[in-house]
Amino acid sequence: MLPILFLSFTIAATASEKCSRTFLNDATDAYLGAQSKGVYTSMFSFAENFTYTEQFKPANIASGILSKALKIDHNRSLLDTVLCTTFTEIIVTDPSHPYVIGTRMELDGQKITKMETLVTDEGDWLFNATGYAYYNSLEKWDPIPEDQRDSREVIKAAGDAYFNRFADANYTVPWGTPCARLEGGAYTGSRNLTANTCNLGLPSTIKVVDRRYVIDEELGAVDIYVGFPGLDRASKEPGPDSHLFRVEKGKLRYIHTISTCEGHPGCGLGNTTFVPGL
Ligand SMILES: *[C@@H]1O[C@H](CO)[C@@H](O)[C@H](O)[C@H]1NC(C)=O
Ligand SMILES: *[C@@H]1O[C@H](CO)[C@@H](O)[C@H](O)[C@H]1NC(C)=O
Ligand SMILES: *[C@@H]1O[C@H](CO)[C@@H](O)[C@H](O)[C@H]1NC(C)=O
Ligand SMILES: *[C@@H]1O[C@H](CO)[C@@H](O)[C@H](O)[C@H]1NC(C)=O
Ligand SMILES: *[C@@H]1O[C@H](CO)[C@@H](O)[C@H](O)[C@H]1NC(C)=O
Ligand SMILES: *[C@@H]1O[C@H](CO)[C@@H](O)[C@H](O)[C@H]1NC(C)=O
Repeated sequence: MLPILFLSFTIAATASEKCSRTFLNDATDAYLGAQSKGVYTSMFSFAENFTYTEQFKPANIASGILSKALKIDHNRSLLDTVLCTTFTEIIVTDPSHPYVIGTRMELDGQKITKMETLVTDEGDWLFNATGYAYYNSLEKWDPIPEDQRDSREVIKAAGDAYFNRFADANYTVPWGTPCARLEGGAYTGSRNLTANTCNLGLPSTIKVVDRRYVIDEELGAVDIYVGFPGLDRASKEPGPDSHLFRVEKGKLRYIHTISTCEGHPGCGLGNTTFVPGL
């Protein structure tokens, strides 16, 4: 038994050597430090062909959100040692300017090659950072005990199933009970924390496009960046969107979304924080 375990450990370590959890954790720590200080240059080094976007549009890192020192109330990072990607969720409740931010990084094992940041604040989809922080604080996102971890494939499939369901009412989604979705600050579970409220009626004609993944088996989580058609009621373009899924024993447990509304307050619904079904 021992030699087999040892062998599989060696293989795993070799395959992910350049993008170990330690390396990726250092990268997300450096990112969080940079965002706290408002000094992007304190981050890891950037690859020569480094690209930076905000709301999926090319942006200048020197004058973007990283130039602002933010008081971070909550952060959570997913580390993907296979794809060499990370995702970090940040909540800032500072009343002078609250934010919920998602940042996806791609690395080459030494440097950052790509950063895609989604910055949400007032006017974005159901935005309420206080609500985001509050409902997040009710949730349990502990690392999954090693003997109970799902495989990458299972975790990814659970997230994909959710989006596939948007184009096909008959697609089977592995809903957990309970399951709750946090969007901007509104929580489907607010009325019953022990029910499956992730499935309160979803559309079935929406093709969610351009999926980019960060999968973390230890955290039992996958984040998927997508273009979400129809999210912005006032736009024909797919909306910039992040969905973070916590998966336990193959089933969806929590969903956190970060969706920006470009130039259309509330994605065409104005200041409302009420959406039927939520
Ligand atoms: C991020 O969260 C961790 C643990 O939750 C905390 O120890 C750390 O200080 C946070 N980092 C920042 C920059 O707020
Ligand atoms: C950046 O350059 C490296 C080689 O230096 C290459 O492997 C990678 O594909 C490039 N990435 C992009 C986004 O062009
Ligand atoms: C934001 O969420 C907090 C906590 O749930 C709640 O007390 C507050 O009323 C919400 N604000 C809005 C504008 O919905
Ligand atoms: C879903 O299933 C129902 C009942 O079996 C069927 O009538 C319908 O055509 C299916 N819809 C799709 C999009 O496959
Ligand atoms: C909450 O949901 C659980 C599971 O579906 C159900 O058993 C319970 O009756 C619900 N509680 C309320 C107050 O609706
Ligand atoms: C939304 O509400 C805030 C304060 O409640 C207000 O300052 C802002 O102008 C409103 N925006 C729109 C588009 O109505």
